[in-house]
Amino acid sequence: LSFALLVPAAGSGERLGAKRPKALLEIAGIPLVVRAVRPFLSFPECTEVLVAAPREYLNELEIVTSGLSDKRVRVILGGTTRQDSVGLALAALESECNAVMVHDAARPLVSRDLIAGILAEFKDDVTAVLPGLPVTDTLKLVREQSNDVERTLPRDRIYTVQTPQMIRLEPFRAAHRKAKAAGFIASDDVALIEAYEKGTVRVLQGDEQNFKITTPTDLERARSILAAATIV
Ligand code: C5P
Repeated sequence: LSFALLVPAAGSGERLGAKRPKALLEIAGIPLVVRAVRPFLSFPECTEVLVAAPREYLNELEIVTSGLSDKRVRVILGGTTRQDSVGLALAALESECNAVMVHDAARPLVSRDLIAGILAEFKDDVTAVLPGLPVTDTLKLVREQSNDVERTLPRDRIYTVQTPQMIRLEPFRAAHRKAKAAGFIASDDVALIEAYEKGTVRVLQGDEQNFKITTPTDLERARSILAAATIV
């Protein structure tokens, strides 16, 4: 089993209030995108790494990722939505692989254990595997506009999901083509499999530390976790 890693890193980071793209923000001198990619490079199953960058920062992302000193890593031009960036990365694949892992540049605290867990769970009977965390709050489905409660959702079957999401290559390619033709934009990668392809999409236990950096508070949280861990 082999996989290519696709890293959407072409977002602007507007919600962080930073001028630079989120992927280039640093924790203890190391950019988020470098932290997000590094744990994958120790896996021999990883054949290639494609980082999708915003046009104005292609050069800078190339410089930063060259610090990883790994020939498998390449930077490509990203798109206007995250899904476009992933689609462009799919189109740019050069290596032979059976699957991809899609991992946000904005999740710098992904662990090798989580990646190994996903690989181990990616058996013949699944089309995709992704990490998720059970929700702790009660969830209400509300009506549009009025915000009146329609019903309460079954909490014990609801997960908030993360990346890396591992997906078989051919069904993922087919689903991307169909979504593009239909103008469908999903909020995560496996949703395209759910919408257009058959096959099981399996959630395994995620990792609290593998949160996505969206706000300045998230960045502070990641900084303090890394400071406490004394690893750089
Ligand atoms: O904005 P959000 O946090 O949802 O972005 C998730 C990931 O998708 C980030 O790593 C971001 O860089 C990436 N992205 C992208 N292309 C876009 C928008 C977001 O690669 N057009």
